[in-house]
Parts: sequence; C-alpha cells; structure tokens
Amino acid sequence: MSGFSAEWLALREPADARARDPGLLRAAAAFAGAGPVVDLGCGTGSMMRALRPHLAAHARFRLVDDASDLLAAVAVADPSVDLVRADLSVDLGAVAGARLVTASALLDLVSAGWLDRLVAAVTAERAGFYAPLNYDGRAIWSPPLSGDAPVLAGFNRHQRGDKGFGPALGASAAAEAAARFARAGYRVETAQSPWRFEPARIEDAQIVRAVAYGMQDAARAIDAGSAAAFDAWLAARMEAAGDTTLVVGHTDLLALPA
Ligand SMILES: C[S@@+](CC[C@H](N)C(=O)[O-])C[C@H]1O[C@@H](n2cnc3c(N)ncnc32)[C@H](O)[C@@H]1O
Repeated sequence: MSGFSAEWLALREPADARARDPGLLRAAAAFAGAGPVVDLGCGTGSMMRALRPHLAAHARFRLVDDASDLLAAVAVADPSVDLVRADLSVDLGAVAGARLVTASALLDLVSAGWLDRLVAAVTAERAGFYAPLNYDGRAIWSPPLSGDAPVLAGFNRHQRGDKGFGPALGASAAAEAAARFARAGYRVETAQSPWRFEPARIEDAQIVRAVAYGMQDAARAIDAGSAAAFDAWLAARMEAAGDTTLVVGHTDLLALPA
C-alpha cells in the first residue's frame, strides 16, 4: 500500500485540474478516441474525471491502483470503467490493449528501471502516453523565509528515495520519460503545469499547510540533525499560510506514436 489518502487526493484535485496544460490534455483525449484509457496509479479517479468531458460518452477506462481504499472511493457504477487492483511495481499487465496509457502525478515515484519497463510495455502496444503533473523540484514561497531552501533541498533528496519502485527519479522523471519515448520514435511534447496557490482563494491555505507539512516531514526524515530548524520553519509557514503565495513546479508529458 502506497500511503496516499483519499483526503489528500480530494484536496489536490481542483489544483491539479487548474494546473494541467489544457492543450496537452485535449491532444491526449483526441488520441484516446473510445479508449481503452488505462490510468496507472489512478487514486480516486481524478485523471478520468479530467479526461471524460473531452471524450465520447462510451469511452472505456481501466483504472489501476494497489490501494483498495482509493479504488473503493472511485465510486462509479459504469460498465465502461474497470477497476483493477495491482501492484504496478511488479505487474504492468494492465497496459495490454491500451489505446492511451495515463499516469498523473505518478512518474516522480518510479525508478529508471521501472520506467524502461513501462516504456517497453506502452510502445509494444503502440499506445499513447500522457503523464501530467510530474513534480520538477521547484517550490517558490512568497513571502520567502530563510528556511525555505534547506527544507526544499531535504524534500527533493527524499523524493529520490525508494517509493516502492526502486530509487525514485523525483524531479528528473519527466525528462527521463521524454528521452525514452523520443528514443522509441514517439513524438514527445512537454508543458509546464505549476500549482499556484494564492491568498485570494480561501481553500488554498489548507493545501499550502498540507504541502508545508509534507515537505517538513520529508526533510526531517532525510536530515534528523536539522529537525529543530525544520520544525521552526513549519510553525512559521503554518502561521503565514493564509497570506502565502506558493508555486510548485510540474511538467506535463504527452508521447504519441509517430
Ligand atoms: C500521487 S498519487 C496520484 C493519484 C492520481 N493519479 C491523481 O492524480 O490524483 C499516486 C498514486 O499511485 C498509487 N501507487 C503508488 N504506488 C503504487 C503501486 N506500486 N502500484 C499501484 N499503484 C501505486 C497510489 O496508491 C496513488 O493512488
């Protein structure tokens, strides 16, 4: 089980919807046609909800995750949607027969070796591949605090730890995937898709607090010796959340057979 909660995924879904590059989303949907769209690491189905309005009503989806609680939260009674519980680190069988494979906010968790296997599985099907929202290593807080840089450095190091797929690619995931699909002869497009949280949106303070907590927790796990400094940073960030602007960098990737 990977440890992502339905509450966290619900919190980020509106921010993800605002962030995804609309041109790449539409191009992915146009390629998908009637599907099947195979969504890897589907969580509660956010990727399907983003694509659905751009697809024919009958387009088929196969949603894959190893977390049974998240699959249960997808809550669709729709014969065009199959829910598949699988550990993708060892089982990529769900990719078989796909027209479009999607992986939203997943690639930064995976290793180079796993990405090799994924690209081989996708290109063997001549399927398209759409992976939005790959974290790119940037978090820009405004107003800034002196602790921002050390916490981000710790967080980014933690991002490269093993998340169940071997040593994770973290911030280099989108570039690594783009290079592999280009070598396989695919047409590759990327676009920036940052999260932007602003004081003007009341609900943004909650996600800003969650991001700050997640970064501090990861930085502490990497550098326990700096725990007191990281805790002080978190306390200051929590207090300032309602007046904070935060930009978190992401890259969207679309790779289609030439
Ligand atoms: C950051 S969440 C993204 C969820 C969803 N794609 C979205 O955009 O809301 C990563 C997802 O990958 C799933 N996941 C992580 N490791 C997995 C594994 N080994 N096998 C299957 N799913 C996995 C998690 O359960 C979680 O749903």
